[in-house]
Amino acid sequence: MQQPAELRPNGDEGAAATADRSVFCDHAAVGAADDRYYGHDLALVHHRGFGFHASACAPGVLALLEPVLARNGLVVEIGCGSGLLTRELVTAGHRVIATDASPAMLDVASDYLGPDAPELQLVVLPDDPLPDADAIVGIGHPLNYLPDAEAIDRAIVVIANALRPGGIVAFDICDLGWGASRRDAVGQGRVGPDWAIITEFSTPAPDRFVRDITTFVPNADGSWRRAAEHHENTLIDTSQLPEKLAAVGVTGTVSDAFGNETLPEGLRVFSGEREP
Ligand SMILES: C[S@@+](CC[C@H](N)C(=O)[O-])C[C@H]1O[C@@H](n2cnc3c(N)ncnc32)[C@H](O)[C@@H]1O
Repeated sequence: MQQPAELRPNGDEGAAATADRSVFCDHAAVGAADDRYYGHDLALVHHRGFGFHASACAPGVLALLEPVLARNGLVVEIGCGSGLLTRELVTAGHRVIATDASPAMLDVASDYLGPDAPELQLVVLPDDPLPDADAIVGIGHPLNYLPDAEAIDRAIVVIANALRPGGIVAFDICDLGWGASRRDAVGQGRVGPDWAIITEFSTPAPDRFVRDITTFVPNADGSWRRAAEHHENTLIDTSQLPEKLAAVGVTGTVSDAFGNETLPEGLRVFSGEREP
């Protein structure tokens, strides 16, 4: 059951891509490739405990994509995570390629989507190219996981260049206001039957939101496994996005939501269209 907004965590459990890439896990199952973004256990916890964001965003995203569905266009999802929005896109009838930087997330997505899974691709923004698309969407603020604002600017160019003429783009992204409104945020814990998470927050700079995350998931023998990740998000002045996107041929606006959902304070949505 979805929690009421006031009981939900600050948007998500934490982001990936630390500035220094320092992620610490105390179990051998997590290899070096997974460690760069979401490791195995946090990917599982995100899937099991943080589906409310995709549920909230999906109706608005699908409404924005109606013209793309009508022309059987290809939707490319960035930062697809465990495939929660992906499933909504596929169920609605979209042709989808879902991408993410975390192999562990893509593994969870593959399991979750099963035989209905669309093509899943490992794409690490801003350095990897995206497939050419009639729409590019992303929720759960994947661009904030990039190490700095310059990297986010480069990712924006990658996104714009991958959009076909008339293509639609929509993604959420944390503004500087995300950090400002959480300056005194206290740590929080959440728990489900097969997962638990404790997150401590800090805001060492106006453009940085840091999470120290401890997760617990059960082992096959019933014991519990503990792991930890250190995540840093880059926050940006989202009011500059329309001008930056316009410079690469995408006209759009920044708003509070994809549709009628209420997003956490400081999380903004850019939506726009590439010149026909
Ligand atoms: C908070 S999760 C959101 C996942 C999913 N979209 C959802 O809402 O459930 C953020 C996702 O962004 C991905 N990500 C982080 N850095 C990325 C990068 N540089 N390029 C692409 N994806 C990235 C992470 O691996 C993670 O799956």
